[in-house]
Amino acid sequence: MPADGLSERTGLPHLGATARRRHQTGYIPGAASARGSCEVWGRGRAARYACPVTGEWDAPTYDRVANPQTGWGAAVLDRLALTGDERVLDAGCGSGRITEMLLARLPRGRVVALDASGPMLEEARRRLAGHADRVEFVQADLARPLPIGAPVDAVFSTATFHWVLDHDALFRNLAAAIRPGGRLVAQCGGAGNIASLKRVLAGVGDGWPGEYRFATAAETAERLEASGFTDVETWLSDEPTRFEPGEPFETFLETVCLRQHLARLPAEERGDFVKSVAARMPAAELDYVRLNIVARRAG
Ligand SMILES: C[S@@+](CC[C@H](N)C(=O)[O-])C[C@H]1O[C@@H](n2cnc3c(N)ncnc32)[C@H](O)[C@@H]1O
Repeated sequence: MPADGLSERTGLPHLGATARRRHQTGYIPGAASARGSCEVWGRGRAARYACPVTGEWDAPTYDRVANPQTGWGAAVLDRLALTGDERVLDAGCGSGRITEMLLARLPRGRVVALDASGPMLEEARRRLAGHADRVEFVQADLARPLPIGAPVDAVFSTATFHWVLDHDALFRNLAAAIRPGGRLVAQCGGAGNIASLKRVLAGVGDGWPGEYRFATAAETAERLEASGFTDVETWLSDEPTRFEPGEPFETFLETVCLRQHLARLPAEERGDFVKSVAARMPAAELDYVRLNIVARRAG
């Protein structure tokens, strides 16, 4: 894999034991699905969602507003003990803000920065340009076998797995990508995530709830074990998050939570939809619930 990695990407159509558990208790990835992808997603704010098929990410805006995700990501990264010379997969690297922190912990190591979204990878390439010799950028779908060459020492992932509907396939693919004994440390939306937003969405427009997999800790532990992981710990944590009301809250909703919803609407209706959802929320706050995962690849 060359350092810039993208020359080896799979191409836009690819955008195309006993478990130890804390609790006993897994878009159609729009940008990554077999349904296809859009190469043009607009000029200017009004056209940002011009790809009705994929609901492609507005990566520069995500990079700017993703402070909650970055804060959670830093805390999750603290759970991954590293010696500094490993090769680690960041599964769903997005715009690369947390990938940058991961790189700082791998002074002699490498990162595979994988994402389904072309715009997100472009943004990550810009941010990580100073580390190009230690980053392999890969555009791929986590729901399909991962084209990353040799197995990595660890997989790290934040704010991504809930976008992958098929968690059985996801964990199977991650297990195949990690060397025996390697670790998986991750966090994503879990059962109960953004419940108040989902209640509001049920009463707006056609009531479409969105496509996510907000799994429980118990079902996730079972899936991980069935996929070849051991020493599994899964747990949910509440992360209620306040925003500045008005434009900052609306921009966050528009960029992160309502991306798929907006992709289904005509361009001229998107602004009103965002405002209507924001106005119906009890407060400029999202009741985030995170699903935390720590596991080891058996073998
Ligand atoms: C909310 S962002 C999180 C980015 C970064 N990890 C962070 O915490 O800021 C979710 C990322 O997951 C990626 N993603 C969603 N579904 C995916 C899939 N099936 N395969 C690969 N990446 C996917 C999206 O393109 C997006 O960049």
